[in-house]
Amino acid sequence: MTTINTTPIPPRDKRLWWRDSVTYQIYIRSFADANGDGKGDVAGIISRLPYLKKLGVDAIWITPWYPSPQKDHGYDVADFMDIEPDYGTLTDAKKLIEQSHKLGIRLLVDIVPNHCSDKHKWFQEALAAKPGSKERDRFIFRDGKGENGELPPNNWQAVFGGSAWQRITEADGKAGQWYLHLFAVEQPDFNWQNQEVKDYFEKVLKFWLDLGVDGFRIDVAHGMIKADGLPDVPSDPKLLEGKPMPFWDQDGVHEIYKEWRKILDSYPNDRMAVAEAWVHPATRIARYLRPGELMNSFNFEFLGSKWDVAEIKNNINKSIEAIGAVGAPSSWVFNNHDVVRSVDRFDLGLGLSGGTTLERHGDVNKFNLERGRKRARAGALLMLALPGGAYIYQGEELTLPEAREIPEDRLSDPRWKMSNYTDRGRDGCRVPLPWRSNTAGAFGFSDNAKLTPNDSWLPQSNNWGDFSVEVQDSDPNSSLNLYRKALEIRKSLSGLGDGPMSWVDAPDHVVAFSRPGDFYCYLNLGADFKLPQAAKVLVSSSPIENGILPTDTAVWFTLN
Ligand code: GLC
Repeated sequence: MTTINTTPIPPRDKRLWWRDSVTYQIYIRSFADANGDGKGDVAGIISRLPYLKKLGVDAIWITPWYPSPQKDHGYDVADFMDIEPDYGTLTDAKKLIEQSHKLGIRLLVDIVPNHCSDKHKWFQEALAAKPGSKERDRFIFRDGKGENGELPPNNWQAVFGGSAWQRITEADGKAGQWYLHLFAVEQPDFNWQNQEVKDYFEKVLKFWLDLGVDGFRIDVAHGMIKADGLPDVPSDPKLLEGKPMPFWDQDGVHEIYKEWRKILDSYPNDRMAVAEAWVHPATRIARYLRPGELMNSFNFEFLGSKWDVAEIKNNINKSIEAIGAVGAPSSWVFNNHDVVRSVDRFDLGLGLSGGTTLERHGDVNKFNLERGRKRARAGALLMLALPGGAYIYQGEELTLPEAREIPEDRLSDPRWKMSNYTDRGRDGCRVPLPWRSNTAGAFGFSDNAKLTPNDSWLPQSNNWGDFSVEVQDSDPNSSLNLYRKALEIRKSLSGLGDGPMSWVDAPDHVVAFSRPGDFYCYLNLGADFKLPQAAKVLVSSSPIENGILPTDTAVWFTLN
């Protein structure tokens, strides 16, 4: 038995909530539609708070709900201190914060500091102003290369595909400067060397903290600072000599978080922030979690694990070692609105790499829905038994698969167009949730009973009703009830959540570990495995008969 995670921490009832919390991600556009327009909204979330309470989550994180032209579904923010009219009003937001708190559920908002919408007031001012002006300095404008400035300032590529630079037409009608957009063309990057930008975001943070939110999910937390001189990316990645890309994970971002931490700490009730930092290895994630910086950072290496014992164990070990070394808790996650759902990934043996539809989504002809769901349920028990906190993405508790039938003319992720129509992008994990088995109101997603599954902003799959909350609620063996049960047990056992864990000797196809209080989690990825004779099963992801743990199954048990 090898004990890992030996960081000394206080007992559960004495430690900060974000060391143990299970946070539920709400992709607002697809969660629940109260005003009947086929898009989710704030009132829809309010109406489902009892559902979230019963599920047993500690907190919710709401994806961007700000006014936005929706070129990247809210991650192109036009006004950071208001609510998108399609989603409601600031009064609705206040009501949601209050009502969540009444139920003991904390609430995080998504802050997008790397870029804004091209319709943001500042960017419009920058376009109207001259090169070299203070308005342009809030963004990253440069003259182009080539005789007439017709070539982009450097070779950086946008995350969604194509050059990361867009040339503008100046006020006099002539082709002019270029601006940087690491994501869509409509998402200009802010210049974080500019004091006004820094001051502005401090104001934005305080605005939401004053309204009562418990913290922030920080979008592209590793992106705000660009290397001095905006150097080209070398043609051969080896030439980076282990250094990060010139636009990711630069040391300067940590200076920002030290300032933000002071703001968070100046408010009562332990406000927090979680970083969306796609950096690796785990030691780079840990840098965001050093004392005086952020509280959580998504564990994307874990998310990217294939359905493979060695890979899963290795990612757990690396994460706990690196993150424990700075005294922080790990934040486990298998799903979010940017990745193919784990039901499909685990079944098809997919990691996270790949730039084409086939590489990213796998071969649908090989997909086995039942096996995928079985694996995702097992994965859930694994994740919820690990030391630290966890993040669940809406629909994960229903083991919803990726929606694969969205017609091409309905795909709306900017990645589809920017990849030159080679990568269908992320819409398949963003399809509105099925609440009822009947198709009325798009399977109960909308309060407007007239809406069909094809009328919601992204069309739902024909079989969506089979996964609905209604169907699962009454089935004791459903995925929904598995999550409810696991979360209840997790709450009742003080050895779960953050704290030590020990690997237990087991065959190569089994992941086995213990937690304080004689608690054990075993996950079997191969041949039948006989559990210890004395095992008293608390919950299992698939039925266990005669003490045999079947393949693709996880179990929680105690020994005394
Ligand atoms: C983050 C978001 C993603 C968005 C991107 C640009 O990665 O999770 O959905 O497209 O940032 O804001």
